[in-house]
Amino acid sequence: MSAHPDLDAAWASFFAEADRARTRRIADLFDDSDRAMHFSARALGMLFDYSKTHIDGAAREALLGLARAARVESMRDAMFSGARINGSEDRAVLHTALRNLSGVPVMLDGEDVMPGVLDTLERMKAFARDVRAGRFKGQGGAITDVINVGIGGSDLGPAMATRALTPFHDGPRCHFVSNVDSADLADVLDGLDPATTLVIIASKTFTTIETMTNAASILNWMSVSLADPAAQCVALSSATDLVAEFGIPPERVFGFEDWVGGRYSVWGPIGLSLMIAIGPKDFTEFLAGGAAMDTHFRTASLADNLPVLLALVGLWHHQGMSFQTRAVLPYEHRLARLPAYLQQLEMESNGKRAAQDGQSLPHGSGPIVWGEPGTNGQHAFFQLLHQGTEIVPCEFMIGAEGYEPDLAHHHRLLVANCLAQSEALMTGRSLSDAREIAASMGFSGDKLMAQAEQRVFEGNRPSTTLAYPRLTPRVLGQILALYEHRVFVEGVILGLNSFDQWGVELGKELAKRLEPLVAGKAPPEDMNQSTGLLAAYLRAPK
Ligand code: F6P
Repeated sequence: MSAHPDLDAAWASFFAEADRARTRRIADLFDDSDRAMHFSARALGMLFDYSKTHIDGAAREALLGLARAARVESMRDAMFSGARINGSEDRAVLHTALRNLSGVPVMLDGEDVMPGVLDTLERMKAFARDVRAGRFKGQGGAITDVINVGIGGSDLGPAMATRALTPFHDGPRCHFVSNVDSADLADVLDGLDPATTLVIIASKTFTTIETMTNAASILNWMSVSLADPAAQCVALSSATDLVAEFGIPPERVFGFEDWVGGRYSVWGPIGLSLMIAIGPKDFTEFLAGGAAMDTHFRTASLADNLPVLLALVGLWHHQGMSFQTRAVLPYEHRLARLPAYLQQLEMESNGKRAAQDGQSLPHGSGPIVWGEPGTNGQHAFFQLLHQGTEIVPCEFMIGAEGYEPDLAHHHRLLVANCLAQSEALMTGRSLSDAREIAASMGFSGDKLMAQAEQRVFEGNRPSTTLAYPRLTPRVLGQILALYEHRVFVEGVILGLNSFDQWGVELGKELAKRLEPLVAGKAPPEDMNQSTGLLAAYLRAPK
């Protein structure tokens, strides 16, 4: 007898609905002339349209039943109330406190965490203002360039958001170094003046090998011409003891607590480079957008709740329809790094095989997430999206307006392309239409059939579209918090802990053990012969 009969029953209805949906044509669902209205939701000025999916009324009821049976709402409330829902690390999950501008306390173990959060935020703002105004100087004058040295969550959030908010960037130039590959560092340092460069060492643990190696090399680069390189360094970390050992004085350390996961950390000190780029006022707008999405997530009914709907559509496609991947396709060039950011957010959070209690997950983990901005992707991999034998649910994103009024016709083309893709994926092109096209090109007989078949689009390929007015700091905050909560809801329903990342550890351990071998020293005894062969080649390629 299962310990969760309601949940088992909800999964059974979910799978029954998915089975029914397999033979359904999405386009036929639009016989309901109100379908677009009924299968879309609006919140905070954004529109989420999921009508171009196989989900009908009964399927949606089954999905909502799954959310109820998995107790999504009480798990959500537990997260916001500081419960230690990150079981394997025995931690609370309170990154939402970093964007809590409401004045309402956030309690953890009987203590309000907000005074500490707000104090750090005020210190960040004061420092960012000093850098932007030239009051904080490098050894050669006002800061012209900022390098954020970090990786994973200590890089992707600020790097993605700084690029996304280019129209708001009026502070010093910002650069991001993440890879231990010296090419990354060399290309960033090329042309920079150490005397006017601020170095932000961003690492929650302050032990990550890539970041510590890059930071040490940057300090070496600075020390060639500067008397005191550390005077131009800032640390963002929760390991304040390690930062002190490193030699950065407390006034230039911005700390955060272990209840902020790396991939959820852009809202706090890890966002310092973004704050220096766009200024404290716009950074506060970004936080306000995230906070507004938190309120929506906490108060909207399940059926109108954007993060819940995104999560349910995700489960429907991966667990229900067995589509292995999903593509995130922002028709917003400045969101070029969003797919990479979401890959960490989604796959590091929900790419797991075991449940919180160690049992195998009954319905698998989250999907593979990938993507590129449109329209570029259209001229690369959209061929497969339209005619390949794998079906990839597509998540389009598009703003009503851009930032280049003199180039408004570009934006019109962008919007038209975005809408055309979701329409084409769904409607496709029939064999008879393809035959007509081939005939009009002068083909006949067997050649006509061969040509026609290659012009057939099966269609019936699902997509969703998230539309928003314009990519402002507030809207970006809304979108990121939307995806964070989507990941959380999917994780709750799948029964996993979205907030640990044990899967990254093994590779790190092995890299440490293999480093001596790469340097030409003795191989570890248990090393596989393939690894040995590769190491030998890489030491002496011939
Ligand atoms: O290796 C994975 C990871 O731990 C991520 O979860 C994290 O965002 C990244 O490394 C960087 O970690 P840190 O901020 O501690 O350097």
